[in-house]
Amino acid sequence: MTTNDALADRIAAELIAARDRTTALTTAVDEADLVRQHSPLMSPLVWDLAHIANQEELWLLREVGGHESLHPEINPLYDAFEHPRAERPTLPLLGPDEARGYGHEVRGRVLDLIGRTRLGGPPAPFGESLTANAFAFGMVAQHEAQHDETMLATHQLRIGPPALSAPAPPPAPADAATLPAEVLVAGGPFTMGTSSEPWALDNERPAHEVEVAAFYLDTTPVTSAAYARFIADGGYDDPRWWTADGWEHRQRAGLTAPLFWRWDGGWVRDVFGRPEPVAPDEPVLHVCWYEADAYARWAGRRLPTEAEWEKAARYDPASGRSRRFPWGDEEWRPELANLGQRHLRPAPAGSYPLGAAPCGARQLIGDVWEWTSSDFRPYPGFTAWPYKEYSEVFFGPEYKVLRGGAFGVSPVACRGTFRNWDYPIRRQIFAGFRTARSAPDGLDGAAPETA
Ligand SMILES: [Fe+2]
Repeated sequence: MTTNDALADRIAAELIAARDRTTALTTAVDEADLVRQHSPLMSPLVWDLAHIANQEELWLLREVGGHESLHPEINPLYDAFEHPRAERPTLPLLGPDEARGYGHEVRGRVLDLIGRTRLGGPPAPFGESLTANAFAFGMVAQHEAQHDETMLATHQLRIGPPALSAPAPPPAPADAATLPAEVLVAGGPFTMGTSSEPWALDNERPAHEVEVAAFYLDTTPVTSAAYARFIADGGYDDPRWWTADGWEHRQRAGLTAPLFWRWDGGWVRDVFGRPEPVAPDEPVLHVCWYEADAYARWAGRRLPTEAEWEKAARYDPASGRSRRFPWGDEEWRPELANLGQRHLRPAPAGSYPLGAAPCGARQLIGDVWEWTSSDFRPYPGFTAWPYKEYSEVFFGPEYKVLRGGAFGVSPVACRGTFRNWDYPIRRQIFAGFRTARSAPDGLDGAAPETA
């Protein structure tokens, strides 16, 4: 098989996988549910459906294929920057059948285009070619996968009878209960970001060296049981644990527990419309950055920086290089991490030993997004491409970085370098966290002297 054929097959498979998930998420509810706005934070599902198709048309049919716009009159409706989520329900959107028909029309033409496009070709510097390494196709597959995650979050916010179901993740392995609470990540430089990952987006680039002092990181994400101890200890009522902004937000928003938790003789949470006792050994979910930060301070620790998180996830002391994933360079498979909406919840803390990083930390990829202490900033040498609104307009102190993906994230949109960002008040995303502490001086991880 030529490189071109292999790439064409991979692209088609990723686009089809994303569409299968989109279809599952949008056929699980009735038409009234599709056009309803379930939260001012989210679009009606029918907007996502046509927006996915509209972006696919823009980047693949128009930019790569040189086609004219299929329906120019609808383009402004599906431009995420023209219409914030809150106003989308008021727009003259395509109905469910029209949106599906539009998606089908675009996809048919895209599959034809894949067969006609020279996808391999000579490597081009990032920012020069939409077709080198099939970048635009990978970007569009990731875009649909990201909306599948957003639509899953809409399902979690939706009020009504349960519409989604999935098997539970595998039980925790036998050693989960005896894992050390934290692992040491040796100090020293490592390569952060990437210049070689073909479908990495602009904010993940370029690769650059970063010095990280030795630190300890929680072996697993913070569990619901540990978080419940913070609540029981009065963590929400003690301003010592909160930043000034965090305390103000906690007061204004009346935060007392993670989103979707309620007290009923014990903590209960709603999981896609089904109430259940909070599972003590699962990573805590649906906490905002302020809550994660306050918990860490209460625990005498802190959130890891983004660079610390990435070093823990990617750095291999044996080779001195950064891997694509904690487990190595090979692609994801189900035994390695909880991704792809196969399970609609995080796996118990300590799961996925095969996916562990060289430092021993588990579940860095999958299960829950992990808040870091870092603001969303460009890497040195950053170039916005192919459009500024993907990342550049979000750089700054108002957004915090999340890493590692969650059970709702597709493997096509998740890797050791992938960066997500959100406001520190947001809780509807599938986010948890783990904590860190600086190691004492002397644990700098210098290579042992050789004879
Ligand atoms: Fe989008």
